Amino acid sequence: MNILITGATSGIGKQLTIDYAKAGHHIVACGRNEEALAALQQQFPDHIAGQKLDITDAEATVRDLRGYTDVDLVILVAGVCEYLDMDAFSADLFARVFDVNVVGTMRCVEAVLPNLKSGSKLVIVGSTARLLPFTRAEAYGGSKAAIHYITRSLQVDLEDRGIKVLSVSPGFVETPMTEQNDFEMPMQVSVEFASQFIRKGIDKNRLDITFPRTFGWFLKFASRLPQSWQLALSRRFKQAS
Ligand SMILES: NC(=O)c1ccc[n+]([C@@H]2O[C@H](COP(=O)([O-])OP(=O)(O)OC[C@H]3O[C@@H](n4cnc5c(N)ncnc54)[C@H](OP(=O)(O)O)[C@@H]3O)[C@@H](O)[C@H]2O)c1
Repeated sequence: MNILITGATSGIGKQLTIDYAKAGHHIVACGRNEEALAALQQQFPDHIAGQKLDITDAEATVRDLRGYTDVDLVILVAGVCEYLDMDAFSADLFARVFDVNVVGTMRCVEAVLPNLKSGSKLVIVGSTARLLPFTRAEAYGGSKAAIHYITRSLQVDLEDRGIKVLSVSPGFVETPMTEQNDFEMPMQVSVEFASQFIRKGIDKNRLDITFPRTFGWFLKFASRLPQSWQLALSRRFKQAS
């Protein structure tokens, strides 16, 4: 398969890139970190091509990704996480997070969509943070709720073109992103586990790839409770953090 992966320079995207390369696929690995891209290329010269890409740069994103005309699978992993401080409420923080997680991801879709043929797959990485109102996660959780909704709408609208759109919602995964967290992260999994679960889900065309399973089930159940119960749960998480 020819695969295009954003966020390939670190964490989940990097592990997916390595695992798909090991399985013999050809990957266009995207990210801003040129050193990380060069290292991936050096490790798998016949299977990985690095593409320097900042998805907040609208013109460059569309120009550079439009050039890849033969892609079977696109996995949009690139994302950022910033937590809000109520004593320094900042709309700019929302702009930064949404510009990468939502608008940047859609810039990638805009770029690749004209070249996606029937039978190809578009995979978009969100988060289980979309399922409950977590403390200080107004921007991050909001962006992931938005991306999940958009992904589901795309499932409806790209079906006629034969493009499978799959939504990925990870729980806590050990990556540089979660290294910054100073709170307990229940049921945290390794990037290797995350990559394997995501690849299996993609193989099986699962519309909703949520993991780890127990964590996902718990949050999905919680998200169906009355809002006052959800607030009580979120309050407990806040006190524990
Ligand atoms: N780790 C978790 O527990 C967890 C849980 C749920 C969801 N997720 C989601 O999974 C995805 C990957 O997270 P991760 O934990 O692997 O994070 P990570 O290790 O921090 O990696 C983030 C990736 O996004 C790329 N990126 C960030 N801003 C970018 C930009 N402006 N343009 C292009 N690429 C950009 C980074 O590449 P460069 O710096 O090279 O640009 C990097 O490759 C994110 O969407 C995240 O929200 C993670």
